[in-house]
Amino acid sequence: MSKNILILTGSPRKGGNSDLLAEAFIAGAQQSGHTTVKYVTAAKDIKGCKACKTCFSKGIACSFPDDFNELAPFLEQADMVVFATPLYWFSFPVQLKAAIDKFYSFLIGKRTLKIKECVLLVCGVAEDEAEYEGIVKSYELIADYQKWIDRGILIVPGVNEKGDILKTEGLLRAENLGKSMLSGETA
Ligand SMILES: Cc1cc2nc3c(=O)[nH]c(=O)nc-3n(C[C@H](O)[C@H](O)[C@H](O)COP(=O)(O)O)c2cc1C
Repeated sequence: MSKNILILTGSPRKGGNSDLLAEAFIAGAQQSGHTTVKYVTAAKDIKGCKACKTCFSKGIACSFPDDFNELAPFLEQADMVVFATPLYWFSFPVQLKAAIDKFYSFLIGKRTLKIKECVLLVCGVAEDEAEYEGIVKSYELIADYQKWIDRGILIVPGVNEKGDILKTEGLLRAENLGKSMLSGETA
């Protein structure tokens, strides 16, 4: 079954390591017949949630309008969300985290998302996978809370400069993960 897959990226570096991870996943997913939308949160202006709890009461997701109101319809159309991100301080970059924080608007506005599945693609300079525990745990708790099925966590350690990821198997693994979204396999 073809899915609408929304890829939320976290890096401000176009063509950087996690951007290439996102592109590889997209290539694989498209080969399996899925529709993809890539949304570069770092190229957008999404501010932190102000906890006003008036979400959707004025016909828009966020009453303090920013680019989240552009992202909200993509979230509503998605069957799956993919987070493709560098590790920043053991967690998500703030641009991506701000978008995640505003997922809250769907809870407050009682708008059910049809998203059922999610994926995490993360890279960082750290070689030790233990340093990725923070972002992985956050991702897993978000998935559990939202009742999304985790369809794969791909960590690519030891990459820092743009292009470092080309020296790893990360892109192949991301492409294979994207391709496997039909069959239920994971990386
Ligand atoms: C603000 C900032 C914080 C970072 N924090 C971490 C970190 O906690 N752990 C880590 O391994 N790498 C960290 N890095 C390195 C990036 O994760 C790494 O360079 C990654 O490959 C960048 O991916 P990109 O090319 O997609 O931007 C940090 C980089 C920046 C700019």
